[in-house]
Amino acid sequence: IADLPPSRRPGRPLVFAHRGSSAAEPEHTLTAYLRAIEEGADGVECDVRLTRDGQLVCVHDRRLERTSNGHGLVSTRTLAELGELDFGSWHPGPGEEDGAPMYDVSVDGRARILTLDRLLGAVHDANRPMRLLIETKHPTRYGAAVEEMLVESLRRHGLHEPRAGHPVEVTVMSFSALAVRRTRRLAPLLPTVMLLDLLPAGLRGGRLPFGSRIGGPGVRLLRAHPEVAQRLHARGHQVYVWTVNEAADVDLMVELGVEGLITDRPAFVRRRLDEL
Ligand code: G3P
Ligand code: CA
Repeated sequence: IADLPPSRRPGRPLVFAHRGSSAAEPEHTLTAYLRAIEEGADGVECDVRLTRDGQLVCVHDRRLERTSNGHGLVSTRTLAELGELDFGSWHPGPGEEDGAPMYDVSVDGRARILTLDRLLGAVHDANRPMRLLIETKHPTRYGAAVEEMLVESLRRHGLHEPRAGHPVEVTVMSFSALAVRRTRRLAPLLPTVMLLDLLPAGLRGGRLPFGSRIGGPGVRLLRAHPEVAQRLHARGHQVYVWTVNEAADVDLMVELGVEGLITDRPAFVRRRLDEL
């Protein structure tokens, strides 16, 4: 896979690795992201949360139990405390179809807590254009702090607005219109995705709130209401769909002409797209 350049045919959707290459490797670890880059993903997705001492870390769940050997809430631990935990052992490792493990997770903190700063470094080191989709968790529970810290961090890296020629392009996502609005106030040029779980009444006209250029429906929503993609497109929006892991869904999304596929299986999805 390593020698395959990211093949982007006109009209082919972008492939984003959801929490890294998270079917094959433990989600949100450096290992999962390095694998996604190796597998030729056009970009990666990650969820960010705040630690007790105000650091942004890449973790999906509010609690630690599912993806680490720790207990309790992420928000009640300092980064140093989280650094003691193992975020890799819970995962069964690559399945038969994924091939051999690409990295030794015990090396170099690869299965340790991943900070957003470290992920930005890894994406930058890919040495090719990479897109980073960042979802702020949790938009309604912790107020504006996550968006504020995120924009501050992106500003430090010069990523708070698209820059011509810069290899890394950041887009911020949320299920909360309020969080999207906060992000756009803090960084008006930063692209945003309005994530959509259920069919909201407000979407009946296909218009997204607060200047989001991209709509992010779930694959189940589009299976049940494929016309949502059409409505978003009719309003000039792009469509990034999550989480597309099955061949039939890849085919349907290509038929609907969506612009981005967010998947736990970037190598598989790329292969499927290449076959079409
Ligand atoms: O990419 C959007 C998707 O990640 C939203 O759902 O629960 O995986 O964060 P979740
Ligand atoms: Ca997410």
